[in-house]
Amino acid sequence: MDEFEVSPWNVSGKIDYDKLIERFGTQKLENSLLEELKNLTGDLHLFLRRNVFFSHRDFDKILNDLKNGKGFYLYTGRGPSGPMHLGHLLPFIISKWFQEKFGLNVYIEITDDEKFLHSENLDLNDTYRFSMENALDIISLGFDEDRTFIFLDSEYIRNMYKLSLRVAKKVNYSTVKAVFGFKDSTNIGMLFYPTLQIVPTFFENRRCLIPEAIDQDPYWRIQRDIAESLGHYKASVIHSKFLPPLTGIEGKMSSSMPETAIYLNDSPDIVKRKIMKYAFSGGQATVEEHRKLGGNTDVDVAFQWLYMMFEEDDRRIKDLEQGYRKGEILTGEMKSILIEKINGFLVDFRNRREKYRDRLDRFMYDGKLAEKMWETFYDR
Ligand code: TYM
Repeated sequence: MDEFEVSPWNVSGKIDYDKLIERFGTQKLENSLLEELKNLTGDLHLFLRRNVFFSHRDFDKILNDLKNGKGFYLYTGRGPSGPMHLGHLLPFIISKWFQEKFGLNVYIEITDDEKFLHSENLDLNDTYRFSMENALDIISLGFDEDRTFIFLDSEYIRNMYKLSLRVAKKVNYSTVKAVFGFKDSTNIGMLFYPTLQIVPTFFENRRCLIPEAIDQDPYWRIQRDIAESLGHYKASVIHSKFLPPLTGIEGKMSSSMPETAIYLNDSPDIVKRKIMKYAFSGGQATVEEHRKLGGNTDVDVAFQWLYMMFEEDDRRIKDLEQGYRKGEILTGEMKSILIEKINGFLVDFRNRREKYRDRLDRFMYDGKLAEKMWETFYDR
């Protein structure tokens, strides 16, 4: 038995990402592929340079479609179960990067149905409220208004239902039971929900690339089994690791444990307090010992967050790593660097968010991509 679990409903234990590639049957995101991408883009996003995105399905085919001029589109999503935390941003940040590099269409699904069905204490009014807040969070990352469509399942269902029926007819109970671990007590809405997560992979008559953390991969195993029989492409996926919880590198930053997460609306004071109090340290028990023996950056959460997300500069991150390992940099100093970076990021983010508030409709209802879909989406 492996000592960790990764599924859409649960992430726990110390995740061995190489083992996960084997377990899920995905492919390592090799440097050769990243080099090919770099030849087309000129540079690589931090998440790619530092192997935060570490695994894929058919990313090589995406590169071919880029080279042969066919192009592709992006699809990703969010389950609106509460306020968003920093970890949730990873797939959206990389999606925005791809959109900018290649002028791509991006479809973002907000699965209020999923979260209503899955959670015991969320009503549809709650998921609606979180959907709107989360959607605003997401577009505020700077998505292109003309090329981004963000939609709520419970509202857009009118246009997706026919396709979801086509999907549903191809997938039987024993498959979803095996893939998602559904039980006799699982409500029947949950059994149907996977069709809705699959449908956006058929929104355009080109390949779609899905950026996400690897917990969402099970859906694509089903999608890839049935896509061609429905006349569509198998989904391509790039998988990220999880931004670890503040409290230690096991599991993932999770909304259900607030002390493990920094939320996008945490004030500078709260950010500081949480990191100082909870961020798991790879340092020694005393300053003297730390100076003598040095710290362990592999388990130091402040360093890991800087490495995975907040310190852009490759030279500086190396200096921080070496400095910490040699005991020249103390845990408190590493935490202070992180606090400053995160608060800088969040203040900018929240300023932008205010500016995007009035524009949400253009991403959700009457923007260009939404309109184009209404015209061209042939099978609704
Ligand atoms: P949700 O809301 O649980 O998560 C949203 C996205 O964030 C990723 N994620 C993380 N990434 C890095 N570090 C973390 N600690 C972390 N926690 C979550 C998730 O993998 C996800 O990509 N069912 C989905 C919504 C959805 C979707 C999709 C996601 C609908 N269609 C297509 C990806 C692709 C959900 O509840 O995501």
